[in-house]
Amino acid sequence: MTNSFRTLDNVDVKGKRVLVRVDLNVPMDGGKVTDATRLERIAPTITEISDKGGKVILLAHFGRPKGRDDKNSLKPVAASLADVIKKPVAFADDCVGDVAAKAVGAMKDGDILCLENTRFHSAEEKNDPAFVAELAKLGDIWVNDAFSAAHRAHASTEGLGHKLPAYAGRTMQAELDALGKALDAPTKPVIAIVGGAKVSSKIDLLENLVTKVDALVIGGGMANTFLHAQGVKVGKSLCEKDLAATALRIIDKAEASGCAIILPVDAIVAFHFAANTPSHAYGLDAIPDEGMILDIGPQSIERINAAIDDAATLVWNGPVGAFEMTPFDRGTVASAKHAAARTKAKKLISVAGGGDTVAALNHAGVADNFTYISTAGGAFLEWMEGKPLPGVEVLKK
Ligand code: 3PG
Ligand code: MG
Repeated sequence: MTNSFRTLDNVDVKGKRVLVRVDLNVPMDGGKVTDATRLERIAPTITEISDKGGKVILLAHFGRPKGRDDKNSLKPVAASLADVIKKPVAFADDCVGDVAAKAVGAMKDGDILCLENTRFHSAEEKNDPAFVAELAKLGDIWVNDAFSAAHRAHASTEGLGHKLPAYAGRTMQAELDALGKALDAPTKPVIAIVGGAKVSSKIDLLENLVTKVDALVIGGGMANTFLHAQGVKVGKSLCEKDLAATALRIIDKAEASGCAIILPVDAIVAFHFAANTPSHAYGLDAIPDEGMILDIGPQSIERINAAIDDAATLVWNGPVGAFEMTPFDRGTVASAKHAAARTKAKKLISVAGGGDTVAALNHAGVADNFTYISTAGGAFLEWMEGKPLPGVEVLKK
């Protein structure tokens, strides 16, 4: 990912109607935003355009509604956004048509308007040219600041980039910069830590990583599949036995590419899948038949930390144990703290993202010490898989 796209440095937004695609898909509970990280991330772009006298027209989706549906309205999110950016955010009940046109028509330079959930129209996800044209009527330029939705080729995330002059927002710019430094042109050696429950959801990601990184740590439930493939008896642990051949193929590919695979050498085993259930560390030759591996063991932690010490760049996706249940968060917390300390000591560039990863690093209390933490879920995974992201590609043309 090079910086071969235009940014807010390349346009005078004053007086312009700026359609800004943001990711407002934030976790909510009882009408309240429970994690405002994504809102904080887009604040710089919104504030900059507004301060420069542009009219900020926000486009975003929320949830996966099938048609219009009050549960998925962006109205409460727009209110929270106003709190975060400390500026008023007006709201329009539709993202196209008369309602939207009227709201945009009433804007003064510097105003901020949030349009209703783009996914209330099925044409959004179809990237329907007629819908793209409807959206495009509302703006003079398009700014994409939603890296976390850039794996979707939808009207507001991709289609508009073909129709209007397109620019990367500040968050998109920062994200592409950080990710580029992590995998595209990294300081070597590079280590990746990949965890999570299943190999099946991360085959493409693992296959891509082994060709790019110098060492790959595999943890979490997915490590059990690799251990099983190598003949380790994993008892009642989560394990995708039918993927043993896939695991061995990935190991072979790693070897051919000169990537060291680092699997657990010991495990924390319990007999129930529950927090604080009794557990012990076992060597891999002694996992009890009735036992379940719920975390990496102390020797594995030491091994990972030593591997982190050997690396200049770290990419992390997925917890290495059942981190949401104590004490099975220990492996994830210990490795995360070690990576954070190395980063703080300026020995490591650390980038993390995807699904549970941010929650795990927040839980470890180290999120602020990583070089960059992406709020993207699926988009981060597709980036790690080496796939082009439509919402990024369209910025490069
Ligand atoms: C996300 O929350 O990961 C993005 O906003 C994309 O949402 P989607 O998976 O519903 O497209
Ligand atoms: Mg998602």
